[in-house]
Amino acid sequence: MLYVQNTVTLLILWLFANSAYANDEFAGPILNPTDVTFLLYSQDNSYTEVTPEFVESSLVEAGAKTYFVIDGLYSNRTTLMAQTVKDDLITLPNCNVIMVDWAPLSGYLAFRPSMNDLELRALYNNVTTYVPAIAREVVNLIESLKIKNIPLSQVHVIGFSLGAQIGAVVGSEITKKDNEKLGRITGLDPASFNYQEENVTAANRLDVTDATFIDIYHTNRLCDHRFSWKIWNLAFKKDIKACPCKVEAPEDESICTNLRNSSCTSPVRIGMFISTTIAGNFFVGFKNTTGPQGVA
Ligand SMILES: *[C@@H]1O[C@H](CO)[C@@H](O)[C@H](O)[C@H]1NC(C)=O
Ligand SMILES: *[C@@H]1O[C@H](CO)[C@@H](O)[C@H](O)[C@H]1NC(C)=O
Ligand SMILES: *[C@@H]1O[C@H](CO)[C@@H](O)[C@H](O)[C@H]1NC(C)=O
Ligand SMILES: *[C@@H]1O[C@H](CO)[C@@H](O)[C@H](O)[C@H]1NC(C)=O
Ligand SMILES: *[C@@H]1O[C@H](CO)[C@@H](O)[C@H](O)[C@H]1NC(C)=O
Repeated sequence: MLYVQNTVTLLILWLFANSAYANDEFAGPILNPTDVTFLLYSQDNSYTEVTPEFVESSLVEAGAKTYFVIDGLYSNRTTLMAQTVKDDLITLPNCNVIMVDWAPLSGYLAFRPSMNDLELRALYNNVTTYVPAIAREVVNLIESLKIKNIPLSQVHVIGFSLGAQIGAVVGSEITKKDNEKLGRITGLDPASFNYQEENVTAANRLDVTDATFIDIYHTNRLCDHRFSWKIWNLAFKKDIKACPCKVEAPEDESICTNLRNSSCTSPVRIGMFISTTIAGNFFVGFKNTTGPQGVA
């Protein structure tokens, strides 16, 4: 599906839609000031809130690489993707780790276990209407980082599910506004409902124009939605290799519990420390010993 230069799609299981919300809808609803909160984490795991207005006097480290962590539906500052990815990033020296807490809009307050499919879909649809407005808040903060000598190329947005769709809108808005790209966007199993090609125009889907380097991890087909950030977490600590592949899904579910290097002539490391000069579709964790190695 995606095979463009400077864009890498790590095809873990199957290709899901990876579309950004339509820019035309960017106007979006007006938010309350407390709907989106930015938490700047230190290496000791404490945090301070940052706002675009007070970036200059904040603890944001000047000139440093800056990561944005955006969890998905029903998230808040304590949910697992946000915490896990943040915990990894704060082990890196000389960088800023900023968690985007959009809990008042993420649906977790309205969610009830008793909800039926129709109610869940309505809740989801409501949450997606806020995606452009949340992205606009993130864009404002990224723009304000220039006062700390942090160029767009130093910014890496890591989003899970709807958080990845927020990241996609952030990328396209920055490109439009600054005529310059974000350094990197990582999409961890980007949300697909309402983000199919039929739902948004081609110009507004996550594509090569949204960041200089884009890596996308699809995991929902055989494993689990959350496996995307679990694999990210594993690959942060351990060298995990993927192989170039055709867009086909394997049937070997053991990859979900037994992640292993794929073997081929030119495997690539996945995750945070991926080489940003590669491009294409890759497959990880599946080793077909009877067929072409590593190719699904
Ligand atoms: C975050 O959401 C979980 C449910 O997903 C809830 O149990 C927890 O209390 C929430 N935390 C905050 C700080 O809102
Ligand atoms: C949509 O979500 C917002 C914010 O969570 C809430 O205030 C509003 O009542 C919701 N609207 C509907 C129709 O559920
Ligand atoms: C997205 O497209 C699918 C498939 O055509 C459709 O069923 C769905 O209603 C669309 N969603 C929106 C929000 O338009
Ligand atoms: C993958 O291979 C590398 C060597 O290239 C090795 O260091 C690493 O431990 C392997 N990872 C797994 C999950 O087997
Ligand atoms: C492994 O490769 C063989 C030979 O190409 C093929 O017949 C088989 O279906 C593959 N196994 C899986 C699980 O894809």
